[in-house]
Amino acid sequence: MRLNIAILPGDGIGPEVTAQALKALKAIAMEFNHVFTFNTGLVGACAIDKTGDPLPQDTINICENADAILFGAIGDTKYDMDPTAEIRPEQGLLGIRKLLDLYTNIRPVIAYDDLLNKSPLKKKQIENANILIYRELTGGIYFGEKMVSDDGNFASDTCAYSRFEIERVAHLAFKAAQSRKRKLTLVDKANVLESSRLWRKVILELAPQYPDVNLDFLYIDNAAMELIINPRQFDVILTENMFGDILSEEASVIVGSIGLLASASIGSKHAMFEPIHGAYTKAANKGIANPIASILSAAMLLDHFELHDEASLIRKAVDKSLKLHITTPDLNTKYDHITTNKVGDFIEDFINNPEETNLNFTNIHLGQSTII
Ligand code: IPM
Ligand code: MG
Repeated sequence: MRLNIAILPGDGIGPEVTAQALKALKAIAMEFNHVFTFNTGLVGACAIDKTGDPLPQDTINICENADAILFGAIGDTKYDMDPTAEIRPEQGLLGIRKLLDLYTNIRPVIAYDDLLNKSPLKKKQIENANILIYRELTGGIYFGEKMVSDDGNFASDTCAYSRFEIERVAHLAFKAAQSRKRKLTLVDKANVLESSRLWRKVILELAPQYPDVNLDFLYIDNAAMELIINPRQFDVILTENMFGDILSEEASVIVGSIGLLASASIGSKHAMFEPIHGAYTKAANKGIANPIASILSAAMLLDHFELHDEASLIRKAVDKSLKLHITTPDLNTKYDHITTNKVGDFIEDFINNPEETNLNFTNIHLGQSTII
């Protein structure tokens, strides 16, 4: 298959982790005889520094002409500490999502057997948890009308949704539930918010089209607690933009590190694949950023094009790295010499030699392996 992939590394740890995903994709192309071409664009704080715009027209062109986009991370502490800045890195990411109409964000949350002891939660609570979060991505309070009064002493953001926006993401979530454990939980705040009551109404109206799906409803405050107390009760969670942002980051506690959570942002024409973590500026260029979220985002990209064998080979490589503790310091307190790059090298090598990793486990931890 020929795929034209836009690479937007962005800021902070974005370039380091994206470079590892790129290595994995190149290895997959070699192994399976695909032709992947890559075009890189600027986005976020680095784009502001170079062009004054967090989403330059060149980047938009690259993305619009690509079959898929691999996104790193955006953000910079200098903007975090300046709430008055009018041009902000996040506008780059939000701009792409809106412009390309990437209305569904899919975030898998899997408690890996090999990482159960990395979560602060009890093993018996999280074991076998496997949740798919469907987060609406181009509506709600993120994109509703915003206002700041002239004197700067009053501000508002509006959470607005139309039936159309709810239906299109909901259909995808219902279908995902059908292919899994057939349970869909709508998370909202329908006891307080009109927009949430519209979500509930629309979902209840769609439900008869999916009679095999067991539908459930939770308020966001309750869902935030249930996710920690009993994550195994969930299969597919459907929720609006802001609740999905918060809930998915909370869910990373189940997995053991936010550096493991990948996502796919899908629209009717375009698709973008991005780790759920941010730019983590403090960690940039130290080799400590976990590249697995980006690498697993590349696997989701392959799945999107029905390249399932390829995607599962990446996942196998990731599983192996977790099993052998070839992980960055967020997961590995013993062997802190394993850098972002080394994890990427291991995954690349596994893809090249899936049968026989020809790795000497002891040497890896001594930093003496020939491959890393
Ligand atoms: C995410 C991020 C973004 C969001 C930020 C960086 C704008 O937190 O993808 O979860 O809020 O959607
Ligand atoms: Mg977030």
